[in-house]
Amino acid sequence: MTTETVPTRGLWLKQAGDSVPGQRDLHGGIVAAIVAAVAELKGEPAADRLRGEGLEALHHVLGPLDLGPVRDRVLEGLRNRMLAFAVEVGRTVLGWDGEFYVDDYLILRLNIPYEVARKADPSGENPGIGRISPWMRETAAARRVKDPLYDPKGYHKGHPPAAWAHGPHLDSWAGHSRDGLNIWWAMCDVPAEASMVLYPELADRTLPCDRRTLYLGQDYPLPAPTFVPLAPGEMLVFDPEILHGTHLNVTDRTRVAVSMRLNASKPTFDPDCFYAREFWRTASDIEAQRFDWVLHLKREEHLGAPAPAPVEARPYPGTPAVVPATVADGTARVARAAPLADGERFVAALPDRRLIVARTGDRLSAVDAACPHYGVDLAFGGQVADKIYCPACAVAFDLHDGTSRSESLSLARYRTWEEGGAILIDLS
Ligand code: FES
Ligand SMILES: [Fe+2]
Repeated sequence: MTTETVPTRGLWLKQAGDSVPGQRDLHGGIVAAIVAAVAELKGEPAADRLRGEGLEALHHVLGPLDLGPVRDRVLEGLRNRMLAFAVEVGRTVLGWDGEFYVDDYLILRLNIPYEVARKADPSGENPGIGRISPWMRETAAARRVKDPLYDPKGYHKGHPPAAWAHGPHLDSWAGHSRDGLNIWWAMCDVPAEASMVLYPELADRTLPCDRRTLYLGQDYPLPAPTFVPLAPGEMLVFDPEILHGTHLNVTDRTRVAVSMRLNASKPTFDPDCFYAREFWRTASDIEAQRFDWVLHLKREEHLGAPAPAPVEARPYPGTPAVVPATVADGTARVARAAPLADGERFVAALPDRRLIVARTGDRLSAVDAACPHYGVDLAFGGQVADKIYCPACAVAFDLHDGTSRSESLSLARYRTWEEGGAILIDLS
């Protein structure tokens, strides 16, 4: 069998904690390396606490500025074993029996709870950043380019990097290889509210990338996210050209995961992205333990065809209707030809804000449309019953009381009622 025969487009599958040879051992090795790094940086009592309570307690023993040093120690100590394991995933899970490629860029994701992270030192590092082999870093630094449009800090609205969550994206938008497959491996419990989220319903659509953020354009309506909770040691193998993102960690526990990437064929890059992840290994080099061999696939020599322009506006759930409202005496009024049906919603456009007006069952509700996190428009998020999911970080907001799992993220809500062919909203 050749690698080309394995269908990977749109693939996402969960793998139990012992489905790949060596998986359980390496999982234990990574957890032990994190605990050892904590012992080195913070002392034995801190490490003991982790041994007792699990990695989920990491934010109790490490400050946000300690996350980078822990990640570096773990990745450098275990890099070769992790690369070898990535090859094993290619061989046993994907059935790739020929040559293939493994990204030298590995990530250990240490995501502390949002309520802790939002108060962190703003000079800390983004937990989504990984590391290439140390001796390639100088070459990578010399190749670094700055794009005048790309502005991640603007998107994250002044939040400390420890509190950042990935908006929905395709990996190739952000310089990763095309036709890759990702391994996203849970080192501790990963509940839905701190998991990867996928939008597989959009797999056949040409989606617009916002070049300022390298995430999906913010006015693209989404279905409700598909959550991927994982047990410790379990992993997700998925096509990163499925739209995906990260649920802001609104739990009170740290979430730890490892990411690795495979390519069945020689990597190529999206010419629309200003940089590329250029450092790769071959499976055969790794299997022969040639760990000091890294290929430098220069972006300009490995560009794929440009992505087709998203000319066809074919959003999945349909663009939400925006209806102007008039305001008099502190009450907004939206004329309606018919009462709002169960499950229906629209955006009421007021002079100074937008509200989501929705009916679920016999309850009519109105809440602010701006997400209190980054200010994105919740009207473009998917809805299930009385929950609307933020289209950026997948946090669920209750349409009736405006609350979410996070105590610091809730929406203003307004008394609303139907009367005389109109919907009225009390803005007081
Ligand atoms: S923008 Fe992050 S939860 Fe809405
Ligand atoms: Fe991604």
